Amino acid sequence: MVCLGNICRSPLAHGILQYKVYGLDLDWKIDSAGTGSWHAGELPDPRSIAIAKAKGIDITDQRARQFKVEDFDRFDLIYAMDASNYNDIRRLARNETDEGKVRLILNESYPGENRRVPDPYYGGNDGFENVYNLLDEATDRIIERLHSS
Ligand code: 4NP
Repeated sequence: MVCLGNICRSPLAHGILQYKVYGLDLDWKIDSAGTGSWHAGELPDPRSIAIAKAKGIDITDQRARQFKVEDFDRFDLIYAMDASNYNDIRRLARNETDEGKVRLILNESYPGENRRVPDPYYGGNDGFENVYNLLDEATDRIIERLHSS
């Protein structure tokens, strides 16, 4: 799960998906990162921590890190939150296999529409609730699609 700072959107995507697969018979390795490095080492944004907590999910074990090329080797699927993240990750791809791993996460719930998860950093708490709901839906679709395959 990749966004810009790895403190608002991708920690929620990471935490929600991890919470949902916990207890299912799945050995998925889930992680998140940011295309930027400014927040490396930091906890998720307090507003992301709060909305996750309100839904029963603890994301305080997460620390921000920057996406790195080796992540293409460690993961089968790389979900970007918006087109800017998507393009930034694709630019790091070394070959077509790497490129093919990168997806826009909302294409799971809105196939082919190339919708973005809006960056909530400069907005209010409503933005975080919206992000949570979008990611809740998208992660349900990811599990439905991949669980049986
Ligand atoms: P995120 O949100 O990409 O969802 O983690 C942002 C966090 C920090 C900044 C921008 C977006 N920033 O400019 O520091």
